[in-house]
Amino acid sequence: MPLDENHVFVPSNNEMSVLDQINRDKLPQHIAVIMDGNGRWAKKQGLLRAAGHKRGTEGVREAIEGCAEIGIKYLTLYAFSTENWNRPKNEVDTLMNLLVSSLKKEIKTLQENKVALHAIGNLSTLPKKAQRELNEVIEKTKDNKRLRVTLALSYGAREEILKSFKEISIKVKNNIISPAEIDESYINNHLYTHDMPDVDLLIRTSGEQRVSNFLLWQIAYAEFYFTDVLWPDFKRENLHDAIYNYQKRERRFGKTSEQIQ
Ligand code: IPE
Ligand code: IPE
Ligand code: MG
Repeated sequence: MPLDENHVFVPSNNEMSVLDQINRDKLPQHIAVIMDGNGRWAKKQGLLRAAGHKRGTEGVREAIEGCAEIGIKYLTLYAFSTENWNRPKNEVDTLMNLLVSSLKKEIKTLQENKVALHAIGNLSTLPKKAQRELNEVIEKTKDNKRLRVTLALSYGAREEILKSFKEISIKVKNNIISPAEIDESYINNHLYTHDMPDVDLLIRTSGEQRVSNFLLWQIAYAEFYFTDVLWPDFKRENLHDAIYNYQKRERRFGKTSEQIQ
């Protein structure tokens, strides 16, 4: 191990963990995750898909704790898409039951880690029991300030945008706003995510490289990070790798590299 100027042993770069190399002043504010690969994980183990979804809750815990430890402010998790309603009924039932049991189980950890839970999506389509449990956890954790975790449930970005179009059209019709006054921030204010910053880093597990109708408006300038890790195997080290990789990139937002530096 090399010595530093005070003759103290310092780990050399390859002995330093990725976590040690993350710059705490350059963290993404908002990380969004497409948690994919539960089914393939189960298949690889010779188990039913339901077992993969159950094990997927461990990935959720790793992601939440990892974000809280590092100081990420917003974590949005894609848990169930509007298209996922088209899966076999028993799988949909499993996922909804798992939502209820995980909420019951995790409330304590959320409180201990000062995590506030939110939800986005067409929540009224969820089973009543899931809605009740969700509302209870949201209410109980609402004053927690360390990290906001948003579950996207029965969420579809096109539906979200369509809903905002309808709301804005009604406002135009009722002369609350004129078309000329509608700007990007006005549209943003009509999305589920109106009180959150845009996504800085979008992670998708399982090797698939697509967006699957997730946060289309909000990822306009997000950095994408794809990993082959299946969601049930996701560990905070995988989160660290994604953040480290993100920090190595130059976000230009349309400008030239020289303008950024
Ligand atoms: C992600 O895992 C969980 C949900 C979409 C609800 P999948 O169930 O999509 O797993 P794969 O893609 O079949 O492996
Ligand atoms: C996207 O995963 C939705 C969630 C992770 C909740 P899917 O597994 O449903 O996506 P596709 O169908 O492979 O694009
Ligand atoms: Mg999938």
